[in-house]
Amino acid sequence: MGKMKSSVISSYLVHPAILLFLLLLSQYSIEPASCASRVKFLPGFEGPLPFLLETGYVGVGESDDVQTFYYFIESNNNPKEDPLLLWLSGGHGCSSLTALLLEIGPLAFKQEEYNGGAPNLILRNQSWNKVLDSLVSSGDDGGVSPPSSFRSGGDAKQRRCPANKSNKRRPNVSSIIYADLPVKTGFSYARTELAAQRSDKLFADQAHQFLRKWLIDHPNFLSSEVYIAGASYSGIPLPAIVQEIVHANEEGIQPRINLQGYLLGDPATTRREANYRIPFAYGMALISEELYETYTSLLMTYWANDNNVQTALNVRKGSIGTWIRCNQDEDFKFDIPSSVEYHANLSKKGYRSLIYNGDHDLLVPFLGTQEWIRSLNYSIVDDWRPWNSNGQVAGYTRTYSNRMTFATVKASI
Ligand SMILES: *[C@@H]1O[C@H](CO)[C@@H](O)[C@H](O)[C@H]1NC(C)=O
Ligand SMILES: *[C@@H]1O[C@H](CO)[C@@H](O)[C@H](O)[C@H]1NC(C)=O
Ligand SMILES: *[C@@H]1O[C@H](CO)[C@@H](O)[C@H](O)[C@H]1NC(C)=O
Ligand SMILES: *[C@@H]1O[C@H](CO)[C@@H](O)[C@H](O)[C@H]1NC(C)=O
Ligand SMILES: *[C@@H]1O[C@H](CO)[C@@H](O)[C@H](O)[C@H]1NC(C)=O
Repeated sequence: MGKMKSSVISSYLVHPAILLFLLLLSQYSIEPASCASRVKFLPGFEGPLPFLLETGYVGVGESDDVQTFYYFIESNNNPKEDPLLLWLSGGHGCSSLTALLLEIGPLAFKQEEYNGGAPNLILRNQSWNKVLDSLVSSGDDGGVSPPSSFRSGGDAKQRRCPANKSNKRRPNVSSIIYADLPVKTGFSYARTELAAQRSDKLFADQAHQFLRKWLIDHPNFLSSEVYIAGASYSGIPLPAIVQEIVHANEEGIQPRINLQGYLLGDPATTRREANYRIPFAYGMALISEELYETYTSLLMTYWANDNNVQTALNVRKGSIGTWIRCNQDEDFKFDIPSSVEYHANLSKKGYRSLIYNGDHDLLVPFLGTQEWIRSLNYSIVDDWRPWNSNGQVAGYTRTYSNRMTFATVKASI
């Protein structure tokens, strides 16, 4: 509100001195297009964070009216050389805090009875920003991160790859930006009613602008190899986001984003995934996992709504009401019926993709994923074989021409 008032004032008052005075006075109500702050401590976690966490807002859309909140966690290996991932949680409308605290980030909730206040956090043993022996690089070690065929560089026959550093051993960790997108997800908010509209295509536009502006504000990462990553519902908008970035790069829009490819876990793609649920739902012990997820979701909701947590994260006071994990209000317009054609377009241009699926996922069963990948008619360059983690089979993988790898993750949802 304060924000809107000050922009009205500035268009009326012409005296520069007064304007300057007003600007100085209202410093705290005027939000810069972007702002970022380093977070060293978090309620619920003992001691300083042993990794670099930055939070902030990036304004996108007309007059920056979509204020996009993000969490950035730097690779603890070699941030200058490691890839940069933009992570978008699915939903639709789920906060990326879901991925950070429940899936791939360096923090997790302590398993204990909840007794008020901000729930306690501990370090996660397997985090995508942390060097770990069990993560994949060029060996056959597996883990939650991409299988080796994806990590170990290009196929020599691919001439149209956007870039190749194929002989270099690829790092198995990355810096990750967890963005709350589309607008009204997590801590992100709109400053006008127009900016509050949500759809798959608006999401694609917002994510592309967000990344470009974030890179302008973080020039150290301008040369990093960029991957766009997400799971579940992200399977619909994410290929469109990647395509938008590709088009902007092709048009010469600066700065150029050093895009290499994308990763999708358990991705919704054709919106026909539900058809595979019944044939698949035979006797798998899913209930306990679902209950556990519900419980950790609840903890996350307590945590994110805690005043001290919001202060530590530099969330703007009063910018949103209650934080909810997934904003599934009915205003969302589903304007991308299927993302298969985007995949085809991107593979044609030589972008790498890793599509993985938990073999216990009921929402997006891997059978459905396999079906649309097959429909692309890519030839197989490395057929179905197990991939390993800590000496155990962690799933199966197959690599197609056009640099697409499919992998299953054993006993995972
Ligand atoms: C990480 O491993 C330690 C030791 O095995 C264990 O105590 C801890 O609970 C693990 N953390 C998580 C988040 O699983
Ligand atoms: C992951 O990367 C680190 C650092 O580059 C390396 O020490 C480790 O061996 C790698 N892990 C695997 C499985 O290759
Ligand atoms: C990239 O690939 C091209 C063509 O295959 C090759 O000539 C070049 O040396 C490669 N560059 C690197 C850095 O591997
Ligand atoms: C795929 O690429 C073609 C050719 O550039 C384009 O006409 C088409 O609109 C693209 N598909 C999608 C879904 O954007
Ligand atoms: C794949 O092959 C089938 C059968 O030959 C064909 O009907 C279909 O159009 C092809 N799909 C693509 C994307 O080329």
